[in-house]
This record gives sequence, C-alpha cells and structure tokens, in this order.
Amino acid sequence: MKGDRPVSSASPHPVPPVAAPDPVTIVIFGGAGDLAHRKLLPALYNLYLDGVLPAKTAVVAVGRKDYTDDQYRDFARSGVREFSRRPIDDDRWTAFAQSLFFANASLDHPQGLTAVGAKLDLVEHERGLPGNRLYYLALPPSLFVPTVQQLARARFVAPPGEGAYARLVVEKPIGHDLASAMAINDAIASVFAEEQIFRIDHYLGKETVQNILVMRFANSFFEPLFNHKYIDHVQITVAEVEGVGTRAGYYDQSGALRDMVQNHLLQLLSLVAMEPPHSLDADVIRNEKLQVLQSLRAHTPEGIDSCVVRGQYAAGTLNGEPIAGYRQEPGVASASKTETFVALQTFVDNWRWAGVPFFLRTGKRLPERRSEITIQLKEVPPILFNADRDHQLDPNVLTIRIQPNEGFSLGISSKIPGPRVRITPVAMDFDYCDFFRSSSPDAYERLLLDVMTGDATLFMRRDSVEASWRWITPILERWAERADAPIPAYTPGEWGPAEAQQLIEKTGRHWRLP
Ligand code: BG6
Repeated sequence: MKGDRPVSSASPHPVPPVAAPDPVTIVIFGGAGDLAHRKLLPALYNLYLDGVLPAKTAVVAVGRKDYTDDQYRDFARSGVREFSRRPIDDDRWTAFAQSLFFANASLDHPQGLTAVGAKLDLVEHERGLPGNRLYYLALPPSLFVPTVQQLARARFVAPPGEGAYARLVVEKPIGHDLASAMAINDAIASVFAEEQIFRIDHYLGKETVQNILVMRFANSFFEPLFNHKYIDHVQITVAEVEGVGTRAGYYDQSGALRDMVQNHLLQLLSLVAMEPPHSLDADVIRNEKLQVLQSLRAHTPEGIDSCVVRGQYAAGTLNGEPIAGYRQEPGVASASKTETFVALQTFVDNWRWAGVPFFLRTGKRLPERRSEITIQLKEVPPILFNADRDHQLDPNVLTIRIQPNEGFSLGISSKIPGPRVRITPVAMDFDYCDFFRSSSPDAYERLLLDVMTGDATLFMRRDSVEASWRWITPILERWAERADAPIPAYTPGEWGPAEAQQLIEKTGRHWRLP
C-alpha cells in the first residue's frame, strides 16, 4: 500500500455531503488565553485558508485584558505564526484579521457582559451577520457555570428553533467526579438544550480517530474479526514525553485518570468496541458508543487494587536532558500523590467482547510521544507452521497509529524467500502523510467546523460523559480510601512503573510498545 495512490479510479466517496456553515459570530470566552492562542485561532485561520469559513464570520474574543481589536489581532497573529500548520500569508492574514475583535468582560460582575453585548451588536450590524452565535468556553471549569448563567442573564441564548441559533462549546474537564459532572451538566442544561451543547474531546477530531469507524464499517475485512472469537486482546496507549509543564495548578488536582482516561482513552475504547450503528446520524453513533461505556465491567475494590496501576514520574534524564521529578515541578505539592501514569485492564461485558481484555495505558514523561491502538488476534492453532512450541508464530496484530506517523499496519506472517520454509512477521503499512501527501488538519479545525454546521457526531453527549464518570469514580474513591498507600515511581523515559508490566504479564501477554 505504501506510496501507491490512489487505489481506485473512483472519486472519493462523500459520506454524508457536508453542509456549508451559515454566517456566525464566534464568541470565545477566554479568547486571550492559551487554548485560543495555540489551538482555536490557528484552527480558524486554517479554515479560512481552506475557504470553508462563512464569508462574514466574526470572532469576538472575550477576556479580562484591555486589548483593543488591533492588539488582539497582534496576539492572534503570534499564535498563528507559532502554532498554525500552515504559515502566515500576509495578504490572506490581513483579510482574516479583519474578522477578529476583542471585548472586555468581568464575569464576577452581574452586568459583566454589557460591554460584550454592545460589541456583538455593533460587529453583527456592521458585518450584516444574522445573529447566529457560537459561545466557546475556553475557560477554567470553575467558570463554566457562572459564564453560562451570565449568558442567560444577558438574554444571549434563544431556545433552539427560534430564529438565529445559539450553541455552546465546552472543553473538558467536565467535573472531577460523577456528582460534579452532573452538577455542571444540570446548570448548563438550565440554559441550553442538549442539542445546543457541544462538549469537546479533541481526540475525536483527530483524523486517525475518525478513521476507526471508517476502517471498521467501510471495509468488510476487519469487522467480521472484531469479536471474542478472533481477538485475543486490545491495547490502547497514549504516551507523552512532556511533563506537567505550566499546568500544575490544574493537573495536580486532576491526574492522569481524570485528565486522559475518563475522556480520551474511553472514547477511543468505545469507537473500537461499539456495534455497527444503523445510520451515520450523530445520535445513532453516540448511542452505540454509550452502550460500550455502559458495558464496561463494574469495579470491585479488590479488582481496582489488582487491575488499575498508577505511577508518578521521579527525577531523571530523558533524551539526555535532566528532568525534574513531578513533585519538584513548579506548582506541584511537595508530597503530591497525583498520578502521572495509569495502566488498567478492563472488559466490555457484552456478547461481542466477552472475555477479551482491554488494556489501557497513558502517562507523561514516557519514552516517546505515541498514541496507538493495537488489536491482537488469537494465535494460530499449534499445527502446521505453528507446531513447534519453541518457535511460536507471532499473532496477527492490527495497529492503529493515532499519532505520530498517522496510519495503520497489519502484522502478518510471511515466508522468507528461499528453498526452506522459514517464516517471519512482516507489516502491511499505511501511512497517511505518505499516501495523501498532506498533513492532517488539526482536530480543532474539524471540531469547530462541525459546531458551525451543527453536526454533533464527534462531541460527547451528556449521558456519555456521565457514563464515563460513573465508571471512573469508584477508582477515584478507592484511591482516596487508600490515601496512605505509596504511589509507585517511574523514571522518565520508562514505560511507567514495574507494576504496569506486571499488570499485563500476569495474564500471559505483554505491551506491544516498545
Ligand atoms: C489534553 C490533556 O486533553 O490532552 C493534556 O489535558 C494532554 O494533559 C493532551 O497533554 C494530549 O493531547 P494531544 O493531542 O497532544 O495528544
């Protein structure tokens, strides 16, 4: 497959046709913050370059700073220069920048959005915008509810179906356990209907993650194998080299289980394990994903102790650089027990996946940035080429590489050319960049466009967020009960603590990475 393109003379299959978004005003709360700088503004600029941003779009950033529009445009330009996947084209930038505005707001004040309202009226009037609004909360979670309440108080939110639309985009984390997630969802639901709410899990916007469904349901090759008859086990690894960086204030209260497993890893698991949906309708797909989360094996305290491993990075060196231990990072409590690594084993207790272990693993300060899903098939019977117990054939493995080197590979056994029958594992490999000769759009480009077109497929519905928390919360409670238990340390550049190896090795398996 590598390097050959295209495989068919047929034109690409559009499923379903993408609707062009209507003109909209994008209101970014926290518009002068890190997320806007690194992700949202570069994504909007790339959508503009692609010609998919509606012509009159306005972006009104809201924040505490006293930026003028021009100062905000400078701020935006620096973010795009540093983080955009495509460089700045001066002429196009000048045209794009004309759609950026800034409004100052103080959310502590009951009339805190008055200036924002005046700015929105002015901008929408001048640009002839119909009043469709997309409110993006690029804010710390503690400000979600106050901001939504301010939006209601300022009468910024019309119910769905009444003239111009209002949509809300919320970033994770939604809560820190089931009760807090439900409280946030309740407060938001008192202002916005569920169909107006778009909860972002940016992993769902990644090309390779979207391709999981295409791979499973647009090919007859894989789907018949995706069940307990053929699959031995599934591994999901999301590994990062970076440490906690400047986010200790948030991360030390969160940890890897809340930060990564509750959302990104469980969303990946649900895409791998879901039943075929009967249509591509957003809610049909989300219903099937929900079923997976609801089928995850319930925890017992002993099961948590033996099947969930946590770890925290110690000081060391990584790629030749000295690395501070997690507890020495600025802003981290010196006796912090926050986990920077989690590995766990679980089961999807339904007919399809009965008895198939799913191993999940994520951490910071691991040897490389690598996110992969591996689906290992059962061994060939111990006859013919696999008769020699001392030289077992490698099982077939399907590896979906989410990042980097996006693509997938299929490990199969093949004869080595020559007079004797000697067998070696080989990989059939598909590489996105190589094949399509272009870099994948950033996840936020796709997600912002979907919010504008009102397609909620790649967003987390309330019941799915709460189902994840329902499964995660007993683990958090068990760890809280055992607060005196030491947290295993790992050296930067290792794949987590030794306990993570034991977790899988005691089942007779091993991690496919490294
Ligand atoms: C975020 C987490 O959701 O995902 C971060 O809060 C993590 O801690 C990040 O670093 C990883 O995202 P990506 O796209 O770089 O794999």
